[in-house]
Amino acid sequence: MSFVGRRDFLKHSAAAALGLTAMSNLRVMGANEQIRVGVIGAGGKGVAHARHAMGLPGVQLVALADPDPGYKMGAFRDELLKRETPVKVDIYTDFRKMLDRKDIDVVIIASCNHWHVLHSIFAVQAGKHVYVEKPLSHDVWEGRQLANLTKKTDRIVYPGHQHRSRNCWPEVIQYIKEEKLGKLKCVRAMCYKRRESIGMSAQTLTPPTTCDYDLWLGPAQEMPLKRKRFHYDWHWVWNTGNGDIGNQGVHQVDIGRWLLGQKSFPERVFSIGGRFGYEDAGQTPNTQIVYYDYKPAPLILEVRGLPAEPSLRGMPHYKGARIGNVVEFEGGYITEDAAYDNGGKRIHKFTGHGAENHLPGFFKTIRENNKSLIPCPVEESHVSSALCHIGNISYQAGQAASPAEIVRKVRKNELGAEAWRRMLEHLVVNEVDLNEVKAALGPTLTFDAATEQFTGKDAEKANPLLKQNYRKHWAIPEIGA
Ligand SMILES: NC(=O)c1ccc[n+]([C@@H]2O[C@H](COP(=O)([O-])OP(=O)(O)OC[C@H]3O[C@@H](n4cnc5c(N)ncnc54)[C@H](O)[C@@H]3O)[C@@H](O)[C@H]2O)c1
Repeated sequence: MSFVGRRDFLKHSAAAALGLTAMSNLRVMGANEQIRVGVIGAGGKGVAHARHAMGLPGVQLVALADPDPGYKMGAFRDELLKRETPVKVDIYTDFRKMLDRKDIDVVIIASCNHWHVLHSIFAVQAGKHVYVEKPLSHDVWEGRQLANLTKKTDRIVYPGHQHRSRNCWPEVIQYIKEEKLGKLKCVRAMCYKRRESIGMSAQTLTPPTTCDYDLWLGPAQEMPLKRKRFHYDWHWVWNTGNGDIGNQGVHQVDIGRWLLGQKSFPERVFSIGGRFGYEDAGQTPNTQIVYYDYKPAPLILEVRGLPAEPSLRGMPHYKGARIGNVVEFEGGYITEDAAYDNGGKRIHKFTGHGAENHLPGFFKTIRENNKSLIPCPVEESHVSSALCHIGNISYQAGQAASPAEIVRKVRKNELGAEAWRRMLEHLVVNEVDLNEVKAALGPTLTFDAATEQFTGKDAEKANPLLKQNYRKHWAIPEIGA
């Protein structure tokens, strides 16, 4: 299919199914055929994916697309050319030119979060199979559009939740079902990862001269940048990122929901958090709890960006987990790939490897043309990513509250109160005085899974945050169910 300009794209996408049916005539790949890959978003992760993909049998890296060749893409291209056996890849600043190439079968999307959905839509419409990094979406509404689109296309869309590919999980799920450690109490998603201040500039940051900033922004609004570093730190501003819950935490939220056996959303959610320990240009919390009120057992996310102690770099842990999942039962717990009794004695080891098979699994899925091989299908990835967003929405709709006010809110919720107590202790150790720098106490929001809208009290405040205000010329199209 020839390159589809933006105007045509919108016209076609209103009847997306039509455009997509036409795509199904694209070539089917033979078992031994070379798969030709392009990468969209050749930053830290995109280059890592490119290196991994080009080392896989039957896979050829053909091109990279990034609006800032001066960041990582140009240097990577040059490095490949200087190899003993030089590898030539083409580079593009405009991903649409790369998508227009008929000799590229698949794309790996590792752009910033605010681009994931739109890049995926463009790629599917151009007939490519897609590996798209997590979080699937930057907001709940756009994630639904991609989930709808995926149901209508024969293209493979394979979200980058590599933890799903670890081989311990089927055994862990069986262990939970058999109640070997008694009744399930909760599943925790732990994201304890050091996050330093991103600084604050007195002057507005100018994007690198090598960057096509309009293309970098895409659907996101143009706003003054006050951070010091242009790349990567977009994670910590709402306009482009989703904080650490949507960065690292989305992996653990996804696994946690899967372990709970929950296919959809909880009826209620609330969050408590703040950006503590420094003042900078970041907006997203570096310390956060999100309580997902699943029945019979909740999912509880904990983000910590500050260290175990101010003088240390090391992070605290909870039952041995810094980044991972803890499943708690009456008679013990599972931390990642081992089960323990309540005294902390290891009583079972699960087989834990396999995340590295996730990207190879994408190519296998394409070769076998078998969507059932996708470890975390788009609909699932949408729910897990949206869980991060609704947690953040409670946080954003929250009000500054003292510790006493927070205790009043959580006192009847044993697990929520316990998570709050540990968060408070952690902040005290880090010399954060919550009577001075107050935490945000989010409202308990009711979420209707059928409409993917908040209902009831505070819905008016929360619903507008389900969909970003996209810039018109890069607006994400509505795609019917
Ligand atoms: N699965 C994992 O474990 C994992 C690990 C790291 C990052 N990631 C994900 O990968 C993505 C990228 O993260 P990163 O750490 O590489 O960030 P990064 O800032 O280093 O890279 C993002 C790249 O996207 C590019 N980009 C922006 N607009 C674009 C456009 N219109 N077309 C093409 N490229 C565009 C940027 O210029 C930049 O090079 C994020 O969504 C992140 O969540 C996933």
